[in-house]
Amino acid sequence: MCGIIGYIGEKNAVPVIIDGLKKLEYRGYDSAGIAINIGNELKIEKKQGRIINLEKSLDNDLYANVGIGHTRWATHGEPSEINAHPHYNIDKSIAVIHNGIIENYTELKKWLEGEGIKFISETDTEVVAHLVSYYYNGDLVKAVTESLKRLRGAYALGVVAKDEPDKIVAVRKDSPLVIGLGKEENFIASDVPAILKHTKNVLYLDNDDMAILTKNEVKIFNGNGDRVERDIETIEWDMEAAEKGGYPHFTIKEINEQPEGIQKVIDRRINDDGKIVLDGINLSKDDIEKISRIYIVACGTSYHAGLVGKYVIEKFAKLPVQVEIGSEFRYKDPLIDDKTLIITVSQSGETLDTLQSLRIAKEQGARIMSIVNVVGSSIARESDDVFYTWAGPEIGVASTKAFTTQMLTFYLIALFMADKLEVIEKEKYDSIIKEIKKIPNDIQTILDNYKDIQKIADEQFNNEKIFFIGRGLDVEISYEASLKLKEISYINSQAIAAGELKHGTIALIEEGTLVVAIATQDKLYEKMLSNIKEVKARKGSILSIAKEGNNEINDISDYRLSIPNTIDILTPLLSIVPMQLFAYYVSVARGNDVDMPRNLAKSVTVE
Ligand code: G6P
Repeated sequence: MCGIIGYIGEKNAVPVIIDGLKKLEYRGYDSAGIAINIGNELKIEKKQGRIINLEKSLDNDLYANVGIGHTRWATHGEPSEINAHPHYNIDKSIAVIHNGIIENYTELKKWLEGEGIKFISETDTEVVAHLVSYYYNGDLVKAVTESLKRLRGAYALGVVAKDEPDKIVAVRKDSPLVIGLGKEENFIASDVPAILKHTKNVLYLDNDDMAILTKNEVKIFNGNGDRVERDIETIEWDMEAAEKGGYPHFTIKEINEQPEGIQKVIDRRINDDGKIVLDGINLSKDDIEKISRIYIVACGTSYHAGLVGKYVIEKFAKLPVQVEIGSEFRYKDPLIDDKTLIITVSQSGETLDTLQSLRIAKEQGARIMSIVNVVGSSIARESDDVFYTWAGPEIGVASTKAFTTQMLTFYLIALFMADKLEVIEKEKYDSIIKEIKKIPNDIQTILDNYKDIQKIADEQFNNEKIFFIGRGLDVEISYEASLKLKEISYINSQAIAAGELKHGTIALIEEGTLVVAIATQDKLYEKMLSNIKEVKARKGSILSIAKEGNNEINDISDYRLSIPNTIDILTPLLSIVPMQLFAYYVSVARGNDVDMPRNLAKSVTVE
């Protein structure tokens, strides 16, 4: 999704902005642009495609102390140079970058056209540039303030004016924006990696905040126009965590970071007595007993973590759970009251559909808990309680390490609730905790065997379609495995409950069609063997994933992968890992852009 960076200070803004844009590439984009104030004019350059195209088009001696830059992911209007940001007014004296959507832009455009203004792009953002210009009378802050009164929708904005080279005006409404604080320099950014090289001190704007940045100061005003202070936070991770560290892609680096990520959650959440530590989250027995219904709301991979979450909360804590897709939940008038617990799950903490669902539920009195990776993100800030996943920055668009840490967080929440409600025997609880502690090692074992998976990927990368089947918890992992594969390999893929195959999908199985059979549930293992045989009878090929030692499956599999032995309920934490590796190596074999797959965005801040 779109990325924002802005700089004001003593340095040359051009390399700072270009470098910041490169750090935002992972969000997914199709064009990029920059506007810098070179004194007598705003120099605006935009290019379709990669940032390198933009960089090459800039004169080497370009110099300015203030500027803004943007990576665009098309929503209104095709990817093109004209539609790229920054957008500007008629005489190019005001430039604007924008993330989000201006919902009433058609109406505003009509009105501005009536005022004689000619639009050149198809974007919603261009109205902001003309609107600010319309109200501009030598005072940018005033002009932006007036414009905001007329804008509806979600926006993070960065605005500069030719005649006011000493400031950047930034606004945040339902779209993330962070302010970086440096020495004689300040920054705006849509997310931290863009500015981390320069500062670790940041402040997050609240909804409706406007920030006025000068070289030496950042003034913030809330939606009522009152001057406010926002807490300065220090980013705990460094650039190294957001760089590839010797790996060819972020995705494979992040897959390999899973043992460490899982270990971190274990260390921080399970104390020496095996008790789960909630870190300031107040969830008493009374609180839990009061819950009549739990909704887990999320999108994409986080939704799949939610499916596993439902399973474990129901199994351990015996509470009823419904899992909902963010974009659906918010429009279906869900049954919510003060006895409802909402658990939103989001890596980025910015997914708009999830965020809006959270807001609706909050308005109706529900308690909001969130499982979030990005500290200080909107979902984290607007929740009553946050379980951070501490997976570190996830840059690859396909979510991997966030997923496993989200699942683990669900296990811990479920066990905590079960323990409080006294619905789990101590022995069972202790044995699960003991098994959880082995997971980092077990994941490492799978990662160490990556060559087996790479070999299969090298043989199978040319498939046009690949199916995933499983039973019980293996169905949820099939969904995620299939999503991973289609996201980065572009192979048409579908996941289905193995028992459901015969009710339709089996019609698509032909000679050589690859079916990945995830068969890690002891209780359902034999049933899976039957389903695999159904595929074999249609001459399909089988890649099976089973626990080590379960060898009956070998005879009916063309390829076989193992996961270390663990209790059935914990297998999702392991079985997804070979599937992530499979998707990764297939993508590499097909020559795809693994970290930035076409059409996808890391953080989806539009509906
Ligand atoms: C996008 C990403 C997915 C992610 C989904 C939800 O589609 O490409 O990887 O799973 O958004 O994102 P969230 O940040 O809310 O987990």
